[in-house]
Amino acid sequence: MFSHLFSEGIIGDMRTRNRIVMTAMGNHLANSDGSVSERDIAFYGARARGGVGLIITECAIVDGLRGKGNNNQISVSDDKFLPGLNRLVQEIHKHDCKICVQIYHPGRQGISAINGNLPLPAPSEVECKAVHQPVAAMTTLEIEEMVEKFVKAAVRVKTAGFDGVEVHGAHGYLINQFLSPYTNLRQDRYGGSFENRLRFLDEIVKGIRNSCGSDFPLIVRLSVDEFLEAAGLPGKGLHLEDGVKIAKHLEKAGVDAIDVSSGIYESMNVAWEPFSFEQGWKLYLSEAVKKAVRIPVIGVALFRDPEFADKALSEGKLDFIGSARLHYADPQWSNKTKTGQKDEIRKCICCLHCMETLMSADISPTPCQCAINIQSGRELEYSDIKENGENRVVAVIGAGPAGLEASRVLALRKFRPVIFEKNDKPGGQLEFANKPPKKEKINWLIEYLKNQTAKLSVEIRFNTLPTVEMLKEINPYAIFISHGSKPVMPQSIPGINSQTVYSSIDILDGKVKLTGKNVAVIGSGMTGLETAHLLAENGNKISLFEMEQTIGQNVYFQYLIDIMSQITKLGVKLYPEHKLTEIKNRTAVFEIVSSDEKKEYTFDNIIISVGAVPNRELTEEIQSLFDRVYILGDALKAGRIRNAMESGFLTAYNL
Ligand SMILES: Cc1cc2nc3c(=O)[nH]c(=O)nc-3n(C[C@H](O)[C@H](O)[C@H](O)COP(=O)(O)O)c2cc1C
Repeated sequence: MFSHLFSEGIIGDMRTRNRIVMTAMGNHLANSDGSVSERDIAFYGARARGGVGLIITECAIVDGLRGKGNNNQISVSDDKFLPGLNRLVQEIHKHDCKICVQIYHPGRQGISAINGNLPLPAPSEVECKAVHQPVAAMTTLEIEEMVEKFVKAAVRVKTAGFDGVEVHGAHGYLINQFLSPYTNLRQDRYGGSFENRLRFLDEIVKGIRNSCGSDFPLIVRLSVDEFLEAAGLPGKGLHLEDGVKIAKHLEKAGVDAIDVSSGIYESMNVAWEPFSFEQGWKLYLSEAVKKAVRIPVIGVALFRDPEFADKALSEGKLDFIGSARLHYADPQWSNKTKTGQKDEIRKCICCLHCMETLMSADISPTPCQCAINIQSGRELEYSDIKENGENRVVAVIGAGPAGLEASRVLALRKFRPVIFEKNDKPGGQLEFANKPPKKEKINWLIEYLKNQTAKLSVEIRFNTLPTVEMLKEINPYAIFISHGSKPVMPQSIPGINSQTVYSSIDILDGKVKLTGKNVAVIGSGMTGLETAHLLAENGNKISLFEMEQTIGQNVYFQYLIDIMSQITKLGVKLYPEHKLTEIKNRTAVFEIVSSDEKKEYTFDNIIISVGAVPNRELTEEIQSLFDRVYILGDALKAGRIRNAMESGFLTAYNL
C-alpha cells in the first residue's frame, strides 16, 4: 500500500525514510528572542514521531535587525541560537526524521514596527499591496551584506547539525522580490535582465556552496508562477515558463532540489489556499519543473488524500509530497497512512484559521492555531489525555462540532459519553457550513468526528431531544450542553415575520429551495456571503445588503477575496451602508447609514443573515436540576469552528 509514498527519498547527500515532506510553516512558537522554544521542540517532535520523512522548519530569520516576520520566530542570525537549534535537531533525529531550516528575509512583505520602525529593504521601492509598509531600495553594499547574512545563516544551520538548508525564494519574500520583474525595477547588475534578477539568489547559492561544501543538501523554494493576474495585475511578474527557467538555472548552479510553490502576498490565495481550491489544482506546476530538471522536485498541491499523493508520485509528477497544513491538522498523517488507518486522518479543511491567527500574531503574541486540532502547537499543554474517567456517564446534548469533539475526548479519557441529538445525523452547524458552493471540505471534519466517536463506541441517540427524566435515567456525572445556536430574526423590524422572509439557515439546510427568484440577502458576514453565493449559484438574482461601510467587514481577508470574486462573477449586487428598517410584504425599506436617506427595493424573498444567538432550550432547567453542567460552543456564544472545537476539547480535557 502506498509504495511510492513510503519509498526512500534522496536529496543530495540526504536520505529520507519516505517521500513525505512537511513544508515550512510559520507557527509563532519560538521564544521572543528568536531562540528555539520547548514548544517548538514538542511541535516538530510530534510531526517527526508521526512519520514525516523530512521537516522543513518555519522560515527562519537571517537578519535580526530588519528581517523579522513576527515576534516569535526561529532565528539563525546569530551564533547564540546554536544550542537551541541543536536541541531541535537531536529531538527530530530521535525519530528517524530529517530536518532542514528554511532561511528567509521578508523584504517588502515584513512589518516595519517590529523591524526598528525602519523602511523595509527591497530591490526597489514597490510597496506591497497587502501589508502597505514603507520600503527602501537596497544599495549594492546592502545587497552584498545581505548575501553574507544568508550564507552565515546557512553555515549556522550546518553547524547546528541540520540535514540541510532551504533557501526561501518563494511567496514574494526578499529573494522572490529580486527574481520578479514586478518587484525588481533595478537597472544595475541586480535588476533588468533574467541573469541580473537572478544574481542575488545566485550569489547566495554560491556562497552557501563555498562555505557549507558541495555535500550539504541545499534546496531552493520557488514561486514558479506568481499568479498576479489573480490579483488584478495582468502580464506582471513571474509565470510558469520563468519559474521553470529559474529552476533549470539553479540545477546548473548545484542546487540539490527545487521546492515548487506559487504566489506572493498580492496573490496569497494561491500560496495557502482557502476552501474553494481543489486537491491537486497546482500539481501541473511541479510537473512542469520535474520535466525540466533532473534534481528532485518537492511540490505542494493541497495534498490531503494518501491515494492522490501516491498516484502523483507514481506518475512521476514530482518526487516529494509537500504539505504544511496536512501535518499541522494531523501530525500522525504519515503513520496513519502507512498503517492502513487512513479513515482516521483529520484532514485540513483549508479554513485558513492558521493563517488568520498567524497574520494577527505579527505584532501581538497570540500563537498560531488550528481550527480543528486544538492540541496543535499546544503539545506541551494538552498532550496528556488522562484516562481517569472511570466509565462515568456524561450526557452530551447535541452532536455538532463541540459535542462530538467533547465526546471524542471524553471517550479517550474513559468517560462514557451519551450524545442526544435532535436530528437524524451528526454535524450540527457543520451541516449548514458544508452547503455553500465549494465548501465540501467541511464534510472531512464531519467524517472525522463521526468516525472517531464510532470507533470509540460513543452512544448517539438520534432524533432525541432529551427530557429531564431521560437525563436522570442515565445518572450523569456531568452534562454538556452543546445544542448550538439559532439565527437572529430581529423582531424590532416590522414585517420580519412575513411569509416572504426566511433566515439564512432555512436556505442552507435546504428547508427552503429558491430558484429563478429576485432575492435580497441581509447581512454580509461569512454566512450572509455564503448564502448569497449558494442562492446565486442556484439561479437567483441576488442583492446583498450590509449596514456597515464595507461588505464582509469581519471576514478574514483571504476568504473575502475568494468569495467576492466568485459572487461578483455570478452577478451578485452589493449594497453597503444599507440598514434594513422595515419589510412591507415584498418590499424592503432601508436607511442609508451615512445620509439618513430611505430607499425601497422589491424582491420575491428576503433572507436574513445578521448573526446567531445561543439556543437556550432546556438550559436553565438542566442547570437548576443537575450538578456539573457545562455549556459549550454555540450554545454558549455563537462562534466559528475553532470556538466550537476548542470548547469541546477543553471542557472534556479539563473535566
Ligand atoms: C500558517 C501558514 C504558515 C506558512 N509559513 C510558511 C513559511 O514559513 N515558509 C514557506 O515557505 N511556506 C509557508 N507556508 C506555506 C506552506 O508551506 C504550504 O506551501 C501551503 O500551506 C500550501 O500547502 P498545504 O495546504 O498543503 O499546507 C505557510 C502556510 C501556512 C498556512
